[in-house]
Amino acid sequence: MTAPLLDLITQRLVQDPPEALQQELGETLYQQLFARCLSVPPAEPRHAARINTIKSETTPRERALLFHLASRFWNGQGHVLEVGPFLGGTTRALAMGMLENPRRAADARLLTFDRFRAYYNGEALAQALEPQFQDGSLPSEARQMLTASGDFFEAFRLLHSSQDYWGLIDARVGVLPDLAETPQTAETLALPEDAAFGLVFVDGCKSWYATRWFLARAMHQSLPGTVYAFQDYGWHTCFWIPFFLRAFREDFRFLGRVDYTHVFQLRSPRPVRDIEEAFPVSPEQAGIQALETAFHELGIEALDRGDRETWARHRLHTAAARAYLGDTERAESLLRALAEDEDLMRRCGRQIRLALEHPAYRPKGA
Ligand SMILES: C[S@@+](CC[C@H](N)C(=O)[O-])C[C@H]1O[C@@H](n2cnc3c(N)ncnc32)[C@H](O)[C@@H]1O
Repeated sequence: MTAPLLDLITQRLVQDPPEALQQELGETLYQQLFARCLSVPPAEPRHAARINTIKSETTPRERALLFHLASRFWNGQGHVLEVGPFLGGTTRALAMGMLENPRRAADARLLTFDRFRAYYNGEALAQALEPQFQDGSLPSEARQMLTASGDFFEAFRLLHSSQDYWGLIDARVGVLPDLAETPQTAETLALPEDAAFGLVFVDGCKSWYATRWFLARAMHQSLPGTVYAFQDYGWHTCFWIPFFLRAFREDFRFLGRVDYTHVFQLRSPRPVRDIEEAFPVSPEQAGIQALETAFHELGIEALDRGDRETWARHRLHTAAARAYLGDTERAESLLRALAEDEDLMRRCGRQIRLALEHPAYRPKGA
């Protein structure tokens, strides 16, 4: 395919309603074109370099996707919402995209929430920020203060406050409850009641309960057609994310995936109570049978669209769910079977090896 042809396809992708284009092309071809066209580096070299300078736990293709979602795919209505910015590698991609978007409403902001602590220890944080200390974008006098405690709100502010997009950013400490019994405090993530969202990026839902809690509120405050990008969809320990999206599959249209990130479009907002009543509070309440069936069916759907990598990730989700629920033996035998498949090891060997070491992640106290 030539670049002009890709440009033409991209134009249709960002202009036409996904539903119409999916009907015209078929869902699979649409999803493949979406991923191909919206993961290319930003056309301007200065943009391409800038979205890759901050240490991030996302891939460059995922950040390019966020840039294109915010600059062209988002219709500019409502605010952009991010949970889990860490140092803001993804925040930067979204905010730079927003700046470029000619359809952006004048009052649109990027609301970004994180616990902003207890993620990396001080030493690891210092290492992550080293390039910025080296190039002077962070003052060396601030090293001790920024890295002593492991809190990174101030580092986030220093990294972004001199940038052209800073006026769009509203960064707040917001803690998602990881368990039903987690007490709500003044730091519990609170979405402004009058805010409606048009683009949502999820990278901080690291537990089943946090996912249910956050998505119920975000879906309630979303505009019809809001675009949702889930970075952890393909990460094995976060099996609750694909399970949630399967449970609400009538509400979300799948648009495509870039690396681990799967993108959906929400058809219409839903009241918080509808979602909380329909979705179990824990993997225990959901039960292994329902989890296995969901990942089996999701795996078949992935194979049907020729995506063997995602099929393997749903096998990893199954192993993670089993391990989470205490059946480590069966989890391990499933993982060993995946590790014997040479083709899969080529495609996602790193993740399979990591899953063999840590098949599941439980929030503290669970
Ligand atoms: C994988 S990192 C995000 C990576 C980031 N988007 C980037 O570009 O590198 C996950 C983030 O979620 C945050 N997080 C994890 N659990 C959380 C919770 N319960 N409440 C709020 N934030 C949480 C962490 O502090 C961390 O910054």
